[in-house]
Amino acid sequence: MKELTLANFPLALRVVFTSFLLTIGVGLMMAGAQIMMTHGMADGKVGLSLDDVVYSYYGNKEGSKIEGKLNGSMQAMAPDAVRLDMIKWARAGADEAQWEPHYKAVFAQYCAVCHSAEQTSLPNFTQYENVKHMTETDEGASFSSLTRVSHIHLFGISFIFMFVGAIFAFARFNQLWKLVLVVTPFAFLIVDVLSWWLTKLHPGFAWLTIIGGFGYSVAAGIMLFTSLAQMWLPRFRNTSE
Ligand code: HEC
Repeated sequence: MKELTLANFPLALRVVFTSFLLTIGVGLMMAGAQIMMTHGMADGKVGLSLDDVVYSYYGNKEGSKIEGKLNGSMQAMAPDAVRLDMIKWARAGADEAQWEPHYKAVFAQYCAVCHSAEQTSLPNFTQYENVKHMTETDEGASFSSLTRVSHIHLFGISFIFMFVGAIFAFARFNQLWKLVLVVTPFAFLIVDVLSWWLTKLHPGFAWLTIIGGFGYSVAAGIMLFTSLAQMWLPRFRNTSE
């Protein structure tokens, strides 16, 4: 019997596989765009960096969001003395007993032009709860959100890798490299998820997250393109006869 390869699969099967692989390809690009737009912006700068991973999972335990902003993009909004006064109050725990009349008035004077109920996209600083929320230290991802995202990620993505790998298993490829390529995405998926937990505990593990994501994207990409090429390019189809 003729060896079963992608190149000599029946047309209908090749069409199903191709549709699946193309959809996965678009999905991968969407996932990449989504990561850039959420995690990529975590440090306030465009593009994914180690800092983004650290802010997303470990948090920024050096200080609160409000302190970061008052020393960053909101620096020009109030004179130094006022900003210092706000930062001191935030560091001391933003005591509600001190909110009225002093801090309420200060926030109303310097911040409420933009941070008010009318501007729904910005936190409303005429209300204590919203200010208080910004003064809490940033603890990064919570354990409950990590468990939720981890199991969805492991279950969901391993299915994608299984089908991509199962299709690629019929490609003509060096046997050893074929085995390496089908295993790699699973290994990096575990590294990736593990790295979120490690980064939550220590910021030094953030690079593992980037390596994990990069590793399985590359392995999946190679399998995807090889499979598509061998199903349709005449070069591969002729040699299989
Ligand atoms: C001229 C309008 C304007 C004024 C005045 C202003 N802000 Fe902002 N603020 C913004 C905008 C726009 C953003 C969103 C962009 C950013 O984060 O830099 C923002 C974001 C923030 C954030 C982050 C909110 C979040 O959900 O991540 C904090 C905290 C903040 N401002 C604090 C202040 C404080 C405190 C003051 C008063 C000293 C102030 N801002 C005055 C326009 C303003």
